[in-house]
Amino acid sequence: MELDLDLIKESLVEPIRKESELIKLIKQIKNNFTVERDKIDQYCLDQKMVSAYTTFYLTTNVPKFSFVFAQLSEKLKNLFQEYDFIDFGTGPGTYILAHHLQIPEFKGNYYGVDASELMLKQASKLLFKYGVNKESLSLSSEPPKDNSKKKILFFGNSLNEIGPSLFKRIRNELDPEIVFFLEPGTKESFNNILNVREELFQKDYHCHFPCPSGLTRCFMGNSDNWCHQVFRHIHDEETQRLCQLVQLDRNVMPLIAHVYCKALKRTSEKLEGFMVRRLKESKHSFKWQVCLDNIKYSGLFEVELHKKNFSKSELKKMKKISTGLKFNFQVEKQLGDKKLRISL
Ligand SMILES: C[S@@+](CC[C@H](N)C(=O)[O-])C[C@H]1O[C@@H](n2cnc3c(N)ncnc32)[C@H](O)[C@@H]1O
Repeated sequence: MELDLDLIKESLVEPIRKESELIKLIKQIKNNFTVERDKIDQYCLDQKMVSAYTTFYLTTNVPKFSFVFAQLSEKLKNLFQEYDFIDFGTGPGTYILAHHLQIPEFKGNYYGVDASELMLKQASKLLFKYGVNKESLSLSSEPPKDNSKKKILFFGNSLNEIGPSLFKRIRNELDPEIVFFLEPGTKESFNNILNVREELFQKDYHCHFPCPSGLTRCFMGNSDNWCHQVFRHIHDEETQRLCQLVQLDRNVMPLIAHVYCKALKRTSEKLEGFMVRRLKESKHSFKWQVCLDNIKYSGLFEVELHKKNFSKSELKKMKKISTGLKFNFQVEKQLGDKKLRISL
């Protein structure tokens, strides 16, 4: 199922008829997110702001879910069909909608938790319009009390507002099988996740994304850089136009996604790596900085991939791929201490 802009417009808590007004509101939200951080919660305070958030941010956030989901193992994906899905800081229902579009055959319950009543009102209108089953959806300012069912605890652009200590309390209370973060690609988000992941490992969670082989150390932990993914996506025409009008690039979106699971241990027989960043390519090869963790290669490596090993159409795809892919590989040659030539 795909995002349908008309359905979104029809379900706004307060329709915004003039494009100029929509642009002004989106610019105001953008400003509150980036410059005036003390006003960060102001996008939830009135109906028009919530409608503008939904029109622009929900629409451009939803595709990020598919990008990360596609990189999980089949066994892990299967759990998403059955486990209840708690979207903490759901806003207008962004990632319940993303989950619903991705997994229409879902058999569990959805819980959207948000401190803003207006956001919950918006989530309810939008999700019913999209056909989410009324009996399986609960929207509230509190997480569910029933602890007997297996669940996924999801945070989409909300851990940075909720903070690590509240996260730890919520996790302890709910004891989910899966914890999934999909946060902005900033250093602040990276530090928040590093802060909570120690405890996740102590509680028997395994990292399924992004760390290769379920790595429990982080090679980027003490550096000035931070590990993140960069998702490249072309939206529908109307959203593309809106991006230009509000001067916000939502085609190249830095994000930090992490997925931890207790139910499935991480084992990998194949050599697995995680692309940390794309480096400048040469005439003959692509170059990536990658994170590796296996008996032979462990740490941050520079790898090169010969272009001659790719077909014309593969080369085209390689130029556009998002940063942050997990991949299996073979080593063709060790070129230096932390430098390899590989093939995929
Ligand atoms: C940036 S929005 C993200 C909305 C949605 N997840 C998305 O990515 O489009 C953050 C949401 O977290 C909610 N929030 C912030 N602090 C919260 C708290 N302590 N409890 C519940 N929700 C909270 C806000 O009301 C807001 O709707």
